[in-house]
Amino acid sequence: MNLVLLGCPGSGKGTQAEILCKHFHMKKVSLGDILRQEADKGSNLGNTVSEYMGKGVLVPDEIIKEVIKNNLGEESFLLDGFPRNLNQADMLKDILSSKGLSLDRVIYLNVSEDVAVSRLTGRRICKNCGALYHKVTMPPEQDNKCDKCGSDLVMREDDKEETVKRRWQVYMNQTHALIEYYSKAGLLSEFDGNKDKESVFKAIIDNLGHGEDKES
Ligand code: AP5
Repeated sequence: MNLVLLGCPGSGKGTQAEILCKHFHMKKVSLGDILRQEADKGSNLGNTVSEYMGKGVLVPDEIIKEVIKNNLGEESFLLDGFPRNLNQADMLKDILSSKGLSLDRVIYLNVSEDVAVSRLTGRRICKNCGALYHKVTMPPEQDNKCDKCGSDLVMREDDKEETVKRRWQVYMNQTHALIEYYSKAGLLSEFDGNKDKESVFKAIIDNLGHGEDKES
């Protein structure tokens, strides 16, 4: 099964990607995570990527195309954060067809702007293992320490309020059009992403079919 997770910044894509990939044994291809890893390397490419991400705007499509080509193989996958504009959607179609693959479903997490902003400004991430927390809705057991590895939790650079506003505008101007695009293609399933993590997850797996769960 090949899936795309679509939704505004803070809609819960990363959170659901993590548990869906475990549940269905899919490869998680999270563009934001891959780009942040590149930025951390401090390479020329990493510095370029970091500049765009810091401003809350999209990294140019030519860079994204290479990243995607290098991360899609034979195994079933879940794309988190790609595509983000119509050009990238066409790009994905071409890459998949050149590999003899196709998309099975696009999972759209619909979340209000207020919820998204409060999730992003309250988000904390483990700087060691990348585990996700929220200071109100998903707090760690020990203040500011990761439950999984005990490392410090940090705020993402682009989660400051001004940058969050810019990311929201970019989403509305460029990414939102994909809802209609995938709806017309008969691939879109919409979910109420304002609900808690477990309810959203359950709604998605009910929709996709539990039969895919190789663990049960
Ligand atoms: P990326 O890292 O993908 O950021 P994003 O799309 O803005 O999404 P976020 O990661 O901020 O939010 P999310 O929807 O994953 O929510 P999360 O689960 O973390 O991309 C960053 C940047 O990279 C972009 O701005 C761009 O510059 C660049 N980029 C990436 N892809 C690109 C592309 N294709 N083309 C060009 N550039 C690209 O949850 C958020 C918080 O809410 C967490 O604290 C979580 O604990 C909490 N939470 C989650 N779900 C729930 C719930 N149901 N109830 C309560 N709390 C919840």
